[in-house]
Amino acid sequence: MVKIYFSILLLFVLSTFSMNLAGQDNSRTIENFNADWKFFKGDVPSASNIGFKDSDWRKLDLPHDSSIEGNFSNSHPATVGGGALPGGTGWYRKTFKIPRSAVNRLVSILFDGVYRNSEVWINGHYLGKRPNGYISFEYDLTPYLKLGSENCIAVRVDNSQQPNARWYTGSGIYRDVKLLITNPLHIVNSGTFVSTPVVDKGLAKIRMEAVIANNLKSRKINLRHQIIDAEGRVMLEKISPLTVTGKRTNSVVNMELPNPRLWSDIDPYLYKIRTSLIEKGKIVDDYETPLGIRSFSFEAKNGFILNGKNIKIKGVCNHHDLGALGTAFNLRAAERQLEILKAMGCNGLRTAHNPPAAALLDLCDRMGFIVMNESFDMWEKKKSDFDYHLDFGQWHKKDLEDQVLRDRNHPSVFIWSVGNEIQEQWGTGADTLGRVWARKLVKIVKDLDPTRPVTTANNDVNSYNNLISSGAMDLIGYNYNHKSWDDFTNAHPGQKLIATETTSALQTRGHYDAPADSMRIWPTAWDKPLLTGNADFSCSAYDNCYTPWGSSHEETLKAFYRNPAVSGMYVWTGFDYLGEPTPYTWPARSSYFGIIDLAGFPKDVYYLYQSVWTDLPVLHLLPHWNWSSGKEVDVIAYYSQADEVELYLNGVSKGVRRKDGEELKVSWKVLYQPGTLKVVSRKNGKIILERNVSTAGPAAKLELIADRGVLDANGEDLSFVTIRVLDSQGNLVPDAAQAIRISVEGAGRLVATDNGSPVSHESFQSDIRKAFNGLAMAIVRTYQVQGEIVIQAFSEGLGSAEIRLQSK
Ligand code: GAL
Repeated sequence: MVKIYFSILLLFVLSTFSMNLAGQDNSRTIENFNADWKFFKGDVPSASNIGFKDSDWRKLDLPHDSSIEGNFSNSHPATVGGGALPGGTGWYRKTFKIPRSAVNRLVSILFDGVYRNSEVWINGHYLGKRPNGYISFEYDLTPYLKLGSENCIAVRVDNSQQPNARWYTGSGIYRDVKLLITNPLHIVNSGTFVSTPVVDKGLAKIRMEAVIANNLKSRKINLRHQIIDAEGRVMLEKISPLTVTGKRTNSVVNMELPNPRLWSDIDPYLYKIRTSLIEKGKIVDDYETPLGIRSFSFEAKNGFILNGKNIKIKGVCNHHDLGALGTAFNLRAAERQLEILKAMGCNGLRTAHNPPAAALLDLCDRMGFIVMNESFDMWEKKKSDFDYHLDFGQWHKKDLEDQVLRDRNHPSVFIWSVGNEIQEQWGTGADTLGRVWARKLVKIVKDLDPTRPVTTANNDVNSYNNLISSGAMDLIGYNYNHKSWDDFTNAHPGQKLIATETTSALQTRGHYDAPADSMRIWPTAWDKPLLTGNADFSCSAYDNCYTPWGSSHEETLKAFYRNPAVSGMYVWTGFDYLGEPTPYTWPARSSYFGIIDLAGFPKDVYYLYQSVWTDLPVLHLLPHWNWSSGKEVDVIAYYSQADEVELYLNGVSKGVRRKDGEELKVSWKVLYQPGTLKVVSRKNGKIILERNVSTAGPAAKLELIADRGVLDANGEDLSFVTIRVLDSQGNLVPDAAQAIRISVEGAGRLVATDNGSPVSHESFQSDIRKAFNGLAMAIVRTYQVQGEIVIQAFSEGLGSAEIRLQSK
């Protein structure tokens, strides 16, 4: 009681004191700079001039991906591996008046990511070039701005030299742009670094660095750090007098927070540190740094320890595209992906194979993901002709530094990966440059962040691997090769292991090739084309199809749980992505690796993970129940939180099954007859769950289901509307492929459609979309207007269906 009273008193004293001291707020502003740009597809060198007439250019808001607007073609230089969509050159221009708040202040433009080779001009003045398509960068505009009249930013984007990636990259200013306005005395953007050298339940020691920029002569200020909890309460405040001199001053402040609430994957509790520069009683700058208090370590024997508890990182790798939206970043689209993954029990994300959007890490902080933040897919040795190997020599230091500086305050970031399957792993004699590079890159990271382990994702971990023999890696990152996990501890005594990439199994949602227990290794070897496959370019969703370097989901999961030394696994991949349509090539144009398809519809293995990775009661039955009479069908159930399951066909039991030992599923062989297949799960004889699948008749109607019924009227929010093709009884028609026309009226608009098929060549912008195995997806975006959004779907012979959403 006394303690509580004292804390309240202390808080009161602190806040009163802050108010008196801080006086008038004259700190920074960060403006969203995404609206009202002009775009031209093609090259117009004179567009950098201030007087250039862009009146006939297309108006748009950023983020924008021009490639996703194109048509699929086998002849696009990106190749099928790059998604079979066009690249090219493009220009963006924006004219703007400088806000009055900018007088006597500094103005910078912040780009979160531009694909690629961006060049930027302000009022005709060249600011610079940035080849890397994933890195965040900024330019100081101050010396070139005209106050009181129009200014013009011009950006040239050049993604014409292709192939330059092994996946779909998108083209353009595909992430956020912001305008930052500060006083000359300010905290440098990405200039703070918070770490927690000591964390236990009773106390966290917090170390805070801040770099202060100052263009003026020596000044005496107060540097104030406030630790603010998730409810907005100031929990701790520390004010330190500081003399700033010259251009930059570094400060380090240590604080102690009693009884911290820790950040974890299951309780991602966030504090923030508000840092203020106070001069003569006035706040001159305010800067916020996220703070998640957690301790962690990787151990050779026991794997990953978070806040003193041994847990496993249950992760997925994802590329940066958002399916039908392309790479144009959208907060809700990214949040939805993470929600779907979290519901599966996933707690880890690897940003394959490049720095992510900054806002994705904010989501990971908030939602509890353990992120492996990756920088490169190649160093000096190329993987495709025009990829980053051309820029690596000149840019690796700046790019890697900027990535670490931007991301090192995110509590969700636990591991830096400085490369994926880097070719410099191999090479002997004079060709062991990989060792030198490995040490160099690790040092670049460690100089800026000594608190997190650095790894690379390796194809093999033999002693001849230059990256590993460099001795620079804190963690041994191993892609695939799950069979050697058993022996890892013996073969590499004292080394810490993370399965940076696993599985690479192949599935088409809703397609099943029997027998379920015979494995298809497609193609038969990594350097061979697929000779046999399915005529419709499908892969079986029974978890019986995978690449020669990969393994089934089930087998990989078993190995994962057999080996305590494997600290975590990142499955390739969470979501299907554009490009890399292994095992096929054209007409296939997107991947089959996802646990979830491109439209966001879970494949069956989603429920395998959910049954192993969550504590939820799970029961999932596959396949559909439309077969030819007399066929023997493999029926599988994934379940959890039950002792047994029983299957019935048309009311007749087909037997009780229990998962024995390591087993992660149960199965039956059932002679098909039309009707209803039912499975029940029981615990102590009591029914826990029941699932049915019935033989569907001909398609008769459509059904619309929105992921969210109430949206934010902010012009950016999205609803993902699932369209289901049903028979007259309401059963999903498992092979339905009807063309569906979608219309949206009122306070929203249709921005994309999809169906999850890796072979569809319909444009994502089309309002007509064929169902694929019974499902289609419409993505609806709000305007900045409140009201009702009416979504209709219509198909010949099936009539129409409607759903209404609210935008508020
Ligand atoms: C890995 C590679 C990934 C992806 C995957 C497909 O070897 O790191 O980027 O290509 O194979 O299975």
